[in-house]
Amino acid sequence: MIAIAIDGPAGAGKSTVARAAAKQLGYIYVDTGALYRAVGLHMLKKGISVSDEAAVERELPTLEVSLTFCDGEQHVILCGKDVSKEIRTPQVSMAASAVSAMKPVRRFLFDLQKDIAKTNHVIMDGRDIGTVVLPEAQVKIFLTASDEERAGRRYKELLEKGQQVSFEEVLKDLRERDYNDSHRETAPLKPAEDSVLVDTTGFSLEESVQKILDVIRCKLQDK
Ligand code: DC
Repeated sequence: MIAIAIDGPAGAGKSTVARAAAKQLGYIYVDTGALYRAVGLHMLKKGISVSDEAAVERELPTLEVSLTFCDGEQHVILCGKDVSKEIRTPQVSMAASAVSAMKPVRRFLFDLQKDIAKTNHVIMDGRDIGTVVLPEAQVKIFLTASDEERAGRRYKELLEKGQQVSFEEVLKDLRERDYNDSHRETAPLKPAEDSVLVDTTGFSLEESVQKILDVIRCKLQDK
């Protein structure tokens, strides 16, 4: 099986670029952030504080999370309900970032991610895919862009979905989330030693996809 790991900070365009590249290659695109978002959403719904690790851990056994793929599109199923849309709010983003720093949560989601890559060619995006989940991936990419550019993309996305936010708010949330994700003790966001760094600041979507495809093809040729 071929595995391509794409890690990087929030708003670097990982999901858009990885989805488009997966389509071209005929691989499955797996957005692992959606799993952490589903756990965060569940805790919010149950009124469990996402800063109370013991309470979050106690809740995990009651939680059923899975991914299904329909026409190449990933759907996140939480306790039998498709929550793919519901997980895309700023509140769930922050809750996901908080629960993702907890070891029991990472352990809980680990096998699910590994198992998908055992039976499919995948492009998997997240924060620790190249370092922890799929260290054996044939291609590892660390995708990034400047803070302002990443916040600008997120801001546009949220406005298009009809959510009322200010650019400053989005930039502040994004920096806070970057800080949490890269300073946590367990599986912090950092480039794998053997990853290729791709900075998409100033790139259009098409240019970013092309760049990623070039890196993937070049790396796979070397194998
Ligand atoms: O990629 P995203 O913004 O949907 O991810 C939501 C949160 O989940 C993010 O703040 C960090 C966390 N996450 C993680 O810790 N590890 C992953 N592999 C993917 C996401």
